[in-house]
Amino acid sequence: MNHLKKQDPKIYQAIKNEEKRQREGIELIASENYASPAVREALGSVFTNKYSEGYPGKRYYGGQEFTDVVETLAIERAKKLFKAEHINVQPHSGAPANMIAYNAVLKPGDKILGMNLSHGGHLTHGYPATFSAEIYNFIGYKTEADGKIDYDKLEKLAMKEKPKLILAGFSAYTRQLNYRKFSAIAKKTKAISMIDIAHIAGLIAGKAISNPIPYFDIVTTTTHKTLRGPRGGMIMCKEKYAKAIDKASFPGFQGGPHMNNIAAKAVAFGEALKPSFRKYAVQIIKNAKTLEKELRKYGFKIMFGKTDNHMILIDVFGSKGVAGKEAETALNKAGITVNKNVIPDDPRSPIDPSGIRIGTPAATTRGMKEREMEIIAGWINEALENRGDEKMLKRMRREVKALCKKFPIY
Ligand SMILES: Cc1ncc(COP(=O)(O)O)c(C=O)c1O
Repeated sequence: MNHLKKQDPKIYQAIKNEEKRQREGIELIASENYASPAVREALGSVFTNKYSEGYPGKRYYGGQEFTDVVETLAIERAKKLFKAEHINVQPHSGAPANMIAYNAVLKPGDKILGMNLSHGGHLTHGYPATFSAEIYNFIGYKTEADGKIDYDKLEKLAMKEKPKLILAGFSAYTRQLNYRKFSAIAKKTKAISMIDIAHIAGLIAGKAISNPIPYFDIVTTTTHKTLRGPRGGMIMCKEKYAKAIDKASFPGFQGGPHMNNIAAKAVAFGEALKPSFRKYAVQIIKNAKTLEKELRKYGFKIMFGKTDNHMILIDVFGSKGVAGKEAETALNKAGITVNKNVIPDDPRSPIDPSGIRIGTPAATTRGMKEREMEIIAGWINEALENRGDEKMLKRMRREVKALCKKFPIY
């Protein structure tokens, strides 16, 4: 980064500091990961200079010989990974991907059945403060006390509400969904079925969990979480919806695609097609299960019964009397990054909820395994039990740094 260092030392320094923070701390934010140097090279490439509105072979500007190469490769590789009939790799991120998908098949005021936010759903699945909730009429479904979705109840709700679209998918839910049941309910109620796999896309690509794509009409995702690509979105769908999705993406919602990003997506999909990615995806879940088992030993209350994926939602207030915000701050001081999170029907506020959400994709990328998860669980417990002890948190930060040194990011 010689040019940047000379030209803009303030930004250069901030990047260097962030690099150090990422290197020396344990990243447990479930939606984060470390993209490879090759992905970041493509992201920082000259494709950022190029306008390429339209799709391969059908662009509005000239000079598209090479943009077509990368976009076509990104689509082909994603098709190999996910076995989807049609793929659009242009959505800038996960939230726009969802807006595009809604816009492709719905009219303003149409009804969507989505997972309630405090039960694990994402903001774009119906949270009142979002733009999508201003346009569409969202009805939320919830999980049961055992952490599962009651599909008979969901069917009854769908029969009563007659939504145009039934949406599966989540940001903080930890159990395996029954794709078949979602699909059957949508068929029975003549709704379009959609799933947002933003969190679990890498686990699906790595075959660590089953592939929902055959069961759903439309599938949206991000590319930067478990899939370990650049920040970005993607939409997969049945051929029947291909034209509507492409039109809703461009010119419907977005302008020029971010071709540097699409090149980086293609690189990441290439990485995910390698056998080593399968091992990675399996290890992510092993690590999450180990972390969960250890945290349970320390008396932490695990939400939704258990984890089947890469994340764990913990009721830290209910288990240790520590609010989510305080837990996040204490762990941050110790060099462990997590995010505060609401738990189902949280009695506390979203700015200071009862829970924290933790995930293993980033730590697994560094090569950490079960033994390291045991150590981390011990640290989480110690940091939260002694959260006022600044000296101890400082000491822990040194220990965290020492462990991280043994597991370089790339
Ligand atoms: C399930 C789900 N969908 C969509 C999004 C939004 O993605 P982005 O932040 O890239 O817009 C997220 C991000 O957290 C998510 O978890």
